[in-house]
Amino acid sequence: MAAARTTSSALLLFAAAVVVLAAHATAAADLVSQACTNATRHFCRLQLSKDSCVSALRSDERSAAARDLRDLALVAVDLVGASAAAADAAISAAAAKGGGADTERSLQYCRVDYDDMARTVPDCRRLVSRYDAAVVEADGGPPSQYYFGCVDRLRDSAVGCWDQVRNWAELKKAVGKEVRDVVQRANVAKLIQEQMLGMENPFESLHD
Ligand SMILES: *[C@@H]1O[C@H](CO)[C@@H](O)[C@H](O)[C@H]1NC(C)=O
Repeated sequence: MAAARTTSSALLLFAAAVVVLAAHATAAADLVSQACTNATRHFCRLQLSKDSCVSALRSDERSAAARDLRDLALVAVDLVGASAAAADAAISAAAAKGGGADTERSLQYCRVDYDDMARTVPDCRRLVSRYDAAVVEADGGPPSQYYFGCVDRLRDSAVGCWDQVRNWAELKKAVGKEVRDVVQRANVAKLIQEQMLGMENPFESLHD
């Protein structure tokens, strides 16, 4: 009897643990899904679909453990850095193969963009990691403009290289996917950070 009771209590405990774990996983999954639903509500803004937003964030398993929008924004900023490093490597490989003076110049220009990003990502990360909604609301923290400014710089660099590559069929074939990925992830970071801040950048006019 006693043994049977112990077994069933153990089973019960196990079942409870499974339920708790599942609930935790669902909550985190919902955060990604909800944040992306909210972030991509106005599709025409950056042409980012909810699915692209979700799959970008889920490509980093830490998004499943994110407790809030700041955690997600940090994951998004890191993804920008990782994709920029991957694109930079692709650019180096393409440059090593040589080519015309025009494509060479475009690749060189992309190196400048990615050098900028490599230096800026850790700064944006530090800024976001210290974000505290309560402090910002009490007007004691850095104004939202700093957050917008940092991630917008990343996005400008990402778009800068894409603008170099998009019109050269040969370059587009060689590095287009990687370069485009950086833009998409910069868009995710920008939109998720807006969710974190609870607003869009009031000083910008988006032209694409
Ligand atoms: C998404 O937006 C809804 C409605 O404004 C809000 O209640 C919810 O907290 C938001 N979710 C996230 C994860 O930002």
